[in-house]
Amino acid sequence: MRTQVGIVGAGPAGLVLSHLLHLHGIESVVLEARDRAYVESRVRAGVLEHATADLLRQAGLGERMDAEGLPHEGISLQFEGERHRIPMTALTGRRITVYGQQEVVRDLIARRLADGGRIVFEAAEVRVDGVEADDPVVTWTAAGRREELRCDVVVGCDGFHGTTRSAVPAGLLRTHQRTYPFAWLGILAEAEPAVDELVYSLHERGFALYSMRSPAVSRLYLQVRPDTDLADWPHERIWAELETRLGGSDGPGPNRGRIVDVGVTPMRSVVTEPLQHRSLFLAGDAVHIVPPTGAKGMNLAVHDVRVLAEGLEAHFHRGDRSHLERYTQTALRRVWRAQHFSWWMTSMLHRMDEGEGSAGDYGHRVQIAQLRNVVESEAYARALSENYVG
Ligand code: FAD
Ligand code: DHB
Repeated sequence: MRTQVGIVGAGPAGLVLSHLLHLHGIESVVLEARDRAYVESRVRAGVLEHATADLLRQAGLGERMDAEGLPHEGISLQFEGERHRIPMTALTGRRITVYGQQEVVRDLIARRLADGGRIVFEAAEVRVDGVEADDPVVTWTAAGRREELRCDVVVGCDGFHGTTRSAVPAGLLRTHQRTYPFAWLGILAEAEPAVDELVYSLHERGFALYSMRSPAVSRLYLQVRPDTDLADWPHERIWAELETRLGGSDGPGPNRGRIVDVGVTPMRSVVTEPLQHRSLFLAGDAVHIVPPTGAKGMNLAVHDVRVLAEGLEAHFHRGDRSHLERYTQTALRRVWRAQHFSWWMTSMLHRMDEGEGSAGDYGHRVQIAQLRNVVESEAYARALSENYVG
C-alpha cells in the first residue's frame, strides 16, 4: 500500500492532521494500536482553547461541539477558603469551550470514515523504517500478518508512550524534562456540577480542581502522591477529600454522584527536540508533555498539526519545503510558552513537598501571595487569562 502521509496514532494530533490534509486534498493513512471503542472512551482533557474550537469549527467539525460543549467566560481560583473569579472573556475577548477529548476524537473518527479516510485500528508492532534513505515505510501486524505502507512523509502522533521517536538515529534527539513530586487522581461522576465554571483550588491538604463535562456530569481532580494506589482511595475517601479541598465560604463543595471513571496521571514537563528528522515529523504528546494544570496538552497537539498541515500543503502542492523545514522552530515557540504557563500554574497551585530542612510552610505562603497578586492585579489576571484562553 502507498500513501502520501503515514500517520501513527489516532489521538487528537493524528486525527486532526488526517482531516486537515484531506481538506487540502492530501491522502493519509492513520495507524492506531488500540481499538476504536478504546480510543473513543479514554477520558482525558476537557478544555479547548478559543483557537482550537475555532479551528475545529472552520474545519467543519464544530456542530456537536457547539451544541453540547460548554462555553466558559471565566474560571475561579480558590485559596484560604475563598473563591475569586477571573473574568477571562472580559479581559481578553476570548473564551474556552469545555468539551471532552473523547468527544473530539469521536467526531473526528466519524468524519474521517464518512469522508472515506483510512484508519487502521489494532495495528500491532508498528515500526517506521527508511527515514535515512528518504523512503519511509511503516510496517505493522494485523490479524497475524505483517502489513506495509510506503509514504512520502511519516508523522509520529503516537503520544508519550509511542515508538516513532525511536526511528530517529540515536544521539540526534535531546530531551528536556522535569517530574513533579505529585500526581492527579481524576474522576468522572454522574453528578450535576455545583458550579458553572472551573474552580482551581489550593488547599493546605493539596490541590483540587472542579470541572465538568455536561449539566449532568462532573469531572474532578485531586493532587495525590505519585505512587498512589487506587486501592487506597475508596469512593468515600475521594468525595470527602474533594469536599474538604473544594468547599469554602464562597461556594459549595461538589455534588456527589456515581463515579464512572477513576485514574491517576503522573505530572511531568517534557520537550524532545528537534521535531523533525528528514521525512519523519513528530507532533503532540510524542514530543512534549505538560502537567495538566494549564489545560494545554491537547491544544498544543492540535497547534503542532495545524502548522504541519500548512507545511505539507506547501510541500505537496507548490513544491515549497521551506515551511516544513521550519516546523521545529515554529512549533517549539508555542510549546515553550505553554511549558512556562503550565509550570507556573502547577507551581502556584500544588502543595510542594519541601523536604528536610525546609523552612516550615514558606513555599505555601509565597503561593498565597502569588495567588493574591493574580486575583487583585488586573495585569496578572490578564496575563493568566491570555495564556489560558490561548
Ligand atoms: P494521544 O492522545 O496520547 O494519542 C496518541 C495515540 O497513539 C493513542 O491513541 C495511542 O493509543 C496511539 N499509539 C501509541 N503508541 C502507538 C504505537 N506504537 N502504534 C500505533 N499507535 C500508537 N490537555 C488539554 O489541552 N486540556 C486539558 O484540559 C487536559 N487535561 C488532561 C487531563 C488528564 C487527566 C490527562 C491525562 C491529560 C490531559 N490533557 C489535557 C492532555 C491531553 O490529553 C494530551 O495532551 C493529548 O491527548 C495529546 O494528544 P496526542 O494526539 O498527541 O496524543
Ligand atoms: C480539565 C483538565 C485540566 O487539566 C484542566 O486544567 C482543566 C479541566 C478537565 O478535564 O475538565
